[in-house]
Amino acid sequence: MSTGTRQGPAAGGVTVRVPAKVNVQLAVGAARADGFHDLANVFLAVSLFDEVTATPAGSLTVSCEGPDAAGVPLDTTNLAARAAQLLAARHGISPDVHLHIAKDIPVAGGMAGGSADGAAALLACDALWGLGSSRAELLDICAELGSDVPFSLVGGAALGTGRGERLTVLPVGGVFHWVFAVADGGLSTPAVYAEFDRLTPAAPVPAASPALLEALRTGDADALAAALSNDLQPAALSLRPELARTLETGRSAGALAGLVSGSGPTTAFLVRDAAGAESVAKALSASGTCRTARVASSPAEGATVVARG
Ligand code: C5P
Repeated sequence: MSTGTRQGPAAGGVTVRVPAKVNVQLAVGAARADGFHDLANVFLAVSLFDEVTATPAGSLTVSCEGPDAAGVPLDTTNLAARAAQLLAARHGISPDVHLHIAKDIPVAGGMAGGSADGAAALLACDALWGLGSSRAELLDICAELGSDVPFSLVGGAALGTGRGERLTVLPVGGVFHWVFAVADGGLSTPAVYAEFDRLTPAAPVPAASPALLEALRTGDADALAAALSNDLQPAALSLRPELARTLETGRSAGALAGLVSGSGPTTAFLVRDAAGAESVAKALSASGTCRTARVASSPAEGATVVARG
């Protein structure tokens, strides 16, 4: 593939909108023979969105716009490009498509921004090429792209088991408000799992928390705050001890609870309402303990076609 430029999409394309996620529970078991960890991973989609537009092109190219665009790879390490390649290969066609990513999901670990673009590109290419793939076929390709990618397609809330890719949709009975503190720099996901293994020599079999599932079902923010948990948090804090200050800042600014999102370094704060989100975001931004703070609500819809040229 050739390296893309950072210009806007051409006419005649398909645009898919896709949300970021937060893990409201991430229970991690022992490392498996294949190197992955069995999880009970409760995903919740949040209202920060990327849009991926697929347009016909002479070859596979990627471009990106948005405040964090400089941090987005434009080669085949981009999950959007890999999604187009995998889908095309399954159908014996050439992945001749330009993928333009309008990026609003912070480019920082823990929000599944790359996974979101993979799911969005898959849906956009499927529509552009008129393949009519079934949901099951798309989910299968998503799982091949990465453990978090199937959830980006599904959205809402879901329990991920296996390595996180086997999804059971969960009911959500209300709107939850969040603030995300975006850290400077990244944290390698494999390094965080390796640190988890070091810190947790005998990890129990992971299981979803009934209290957490009930809090989601009833839309009870206080109950959800009490049940939030992330087994990767001690490992993320061990590798990035300064995240403890970010967590403390959000909690003392009035958040109901705060936790590391996924493998970090993004931290997520559950707040009571939209006004609470604004004041916690303001305190986090002023504190200098994060690069930026973003406000969002959940649940949000999964990858959806929003425009066809
Ligand atoms: O599937 P994905 O590409 O997102 O995984 C990235 C890395 O995270 C894996 O290579 C592995 O080191 C770690 N991982 C894991 N167990 C999981 C999911 C991810 O160990 N269930």
